[in-house]
Order: sequence, then structure tokens, then C-alpha cells
Amino acid sequence: MLDRNHFTRDSKLIVEWIDDYLRNIKDLPVKSKVRPGEIKEQIGTTIPARGESLEKIMQDFKDVILPGMVHWQHPNFHAYFNANNSTESILAEMLTSALGAQCMIWETSPAAAELEERMLDWLKDAMGLPRKWEGVIQDTASTATLAAILTARERKCDFQSNYAGVPANLRVYCSQETHSSIDKAVAIAGIGKNNLIKIQIDGQRRMDPAALKAAIEQDISDGLKPTAVVLTLGTTGTMAIDNIKDVGPICKKYGVWLHVDAAYAGTALLLAEHQGMIEGIAYADSFVFNPHKWMFTNFDCTAYYVKSADHLIKTFEILPEYLKTHSRGQVNDYRDWGVPLGRRFRALKLWFVMRSYGLKGLRDRIRQHIKLSRYFVKWLESQPHLELITAPVLNFSCFRYNPSREEFSFEDLNKINATILEKINSTGKAYLSHTTVDGRYAIRVVIGQTYIQTEDVDRLIDVIKESLP
Ligand SMILES: Cc1ncc(COP(=O)(O)O)c(C=O)c1O
Repeated sequence: MLDRNHFTRDSKLIVEWIDDYLRNIKDLPVKSKVRPGEIKEQIGTTIPARGESLEKIMQDFKDVILPGMVHWQHPNFHAYFNANNSTESILAEMLTSALGAQCMIWETSPAAAELEERMLDWLKDAMGLPRKWEGVIQDTASTATLAAILTARERKCDFQSNYAGVPANLRVYCSQETHSSIDKAVAIAGIGKNNLIKIQIDGQRRMDPAALKAAIEQDISDGLKPTAVVLTLGTTGTMAIDNIKDVGPICKKYGVWLHVDAAYAGTALLLAEHQGMIEGIAYADSFVFNPHKWMFTNFDCTAYYVKSADHLIKTFEILPEYLKTHSRGQVNDYRDWGVPLGRRFRALKLWFVMRSYGLKGLRDRIRQHIKLSRYFVKWLESQPHLELITAPVLNFSCFRYNPSREEFSFEDLNKINATILEKINSTGKAYLSHTTVDGRYAIRVVIGQTYIQTEDVDRLIDVIKESLP
């Protein structure tokens, strides 16, 4: 067991390791190469009978754990959507764990509740979201979307489904490109996946508003109850931006909750030139974005906004005797704003990041990422054998190898591109992931690592070149 009196000495060991890790992260293989079970085999099967030294634990961390980690902060991590961090966020998380506060209600940490309120207001204003909206931090976008679907369900059922159970005729709509967290949410909410209707998309892979309207009207005439629509700003597959402006009035007309999932692309709303994405946002009932993806605040930290905090609280509020307080009604008790009771102090890292960067610093870095992505796309476009699969959006692009349309069959091209991706990832120099677009295998590239520079994009380009047939 560690001696509390040696905290500075012990933490120095860790802090120095972190510094060294982040300095030299480029030299590590970004994607782990271990085989399934390999790490488990090296970890004892029982708790050690006697305590071990920090030095020994750290040595095992380096020898056993590290080879089994994907280095998400490596500048050439371009897979999925990045979950970037920053020095500021790491330091704030140290303080958070030192405080070890459980911030379920205002009384259990007033500063945590009030800082959270302030941080979400800062973000709301900087992102151009409606001034009257109120926000709360959730662990993930999946949890926030679940909160949205549960609240939509309650509103549609006059706040009775928490008591009487869920009627079988509620309907939720999203596009086929929407993230799987919505499938999960309708299942958990008891609405049923069969009542999640995937609306067709247009040429830009956005939900088709006319098809949505037709589906809602058909459902109403069949005696079903349209309950919620989920739109996405920045779909996971191809970063498509759904059209709030045209879908919003349809939701309003039929009394349907409109939830906007901007998990990744939401960060770009800090830039005036991307405010167009939220044209019509006043129609929305709820909105989610993840500072833990592209805003330098390490996982987990999700910002969830609602038009009516009353509806949210009415859905989640539960008041056992042991949680009754005198301050109730004067303050925000965030346990009533979502699923979990216990809550981490996540607002602190947002405070550190936003204060240390300032709005200008945040904007500069995000613009830099978009600029680097354009630089990469320019290279892609100059390559005769590479083909952009969808139009690049923000810091995202996707492409495939396609030397000539006649040379390979559709299936062959898919196999060749899967092999190229495997080859790129096996170099350990970069990590990309894929999607399919109308059956075509497409390699996705997200350029959003906090400290990425042009030379890192050049390294990615070299790796791709080396991996082509
Ligand atoms: C568009 C979109 N929504 C939701 C999610 C889920 O995010 P989380 O991991 O925070 O639940 C993702 C994850 O990448 C996403 O891309």
C-alpha cells in the first residue's frame, strides 16, 4: 500500500511517464497488434495476497498493458471519430480524481453543479444555440439520446408511461445513416426497434424530408403515434449533415419531438462559417454534442441541451427521503436530468480547456484541423487511382482505390480496398477505419487530433502510398 506521505514522489513517477508518453507517442504503433486473450494471459487470476510496489505495477503497466492499447492521442489516429484530449484536460482530470466528489445533487458539491451550469451556458452561446435552452453534462451521446427518447415518450404519453408502461403504438424516425445509439435507445425505452422507422436519404446522404412527412402521415392514418425524429449533424459513416430547416416544421406540425445528434460535428459550430448547419435549430427539442470527441476534453464529457428542462426533470425525477434537501427548487440537482444518480465532476475539465484555450484558441485549432483535412483531400484528388466516395465535410473525407472502372469487378474492388486498409493499419504508423457507401467499401479519414501538424498528414499520405497495390 502506498504511503500517503510520499504522494509527491509517487505521482512524479506517473507524471514524468505521462510527459514522456505524450512527447514520444508518434513512435508507438498507433494500433495494437496483440491477439485476443494475449493480455489476459499475462495478468494474474487472483488479487495478490500481499501488496506490490508502485514501481512493479508501473513496470507491468509498461510491459503488459501498453502493448494492448490503441494510442488514441497519436496524431495519426484517424479512425472512427477521434476522442482527443489536451494537457489542460488531463490536469483537470487529476484534480477531479483528487477531489473524488460524487456530484449527484447541488448539496453534494455546489461548485460542481454551478460550474456545470455556467460551462454549458458558455458553450451554448459560443455555438449559437437558442439562449433559452438549458444544458447538462452526460457521460456519452448514447445516454443523452436515450434521455431524449425517454422524454419524448413521456411527453407523447402525457407523462403517464413511467407509471402505466409504454403503449405499443409509438413511432420514432431517423435515417438509415443515424448512429446505432438510437436503435439502442428505442429498445431501452420500450418503444421497440420495430417502431424505429429508417427514412430514406437523398443524394447527400441526408434524411429526405418528403419521405419523413409521408411516413408520419401514413402512421397517423394507421392509428400510430409519431413520437420523435432524430436528425444527425455529422453522420458516423460519411459526416452527412441532416437538414433541420426542412424537417423542423414537419415535427412541429405533427407534435413530434425533434432530437439533434451532433455528437462529432457539433464542435464546428464554434466557427461562424459552419453556423449554417443549425439553420432551423429553434425547432429542436433536444441537442447533443461531445466535447470528448473533437473539443480537447478527454472522454467522457457530453453536452446535452433541452428546450424544456421541465420535461426532462418530469421524466427522470424521483425523490426518496434520503435525497431530500432544503435547497431543492433553488438550484439544479442534475441527478434529475438523466439516467444515473451518481455523477462525476466533468465540468472542471471543460473549464480548464475553455479558459486556457479561450474561444480564439479553440477556433484556431478546429480551423487548423479542417485546413489539414483539405490539404489531405487535395492530395487525394491529385491521385489518378484514388477516388473520393462522398464530398468531404469539415475534417472528414472518405475514399477508395479504383484504378479503372473496367479492370475490377465491384466485389474485387471492395476486397482490394479492405486489404489496403489492413495494410495501412498493420504498419502501426496510422490507424484508419472504413464504412460502406451504397455497397462500396470506403476508407474513412478523420483529421482531429489535438496537436496534429502538416508533417503528420504527410506521414499519413506516405503510409497510404506505400500500402497501395
Ligand atoms: C453521430 C454519433 N452519435 C452518437 C455517437 C455515440 O457517441 P458516444 O460514444 O458518446 O455514446 C457517435 C459515436 O461515434 C456518433 O458518431
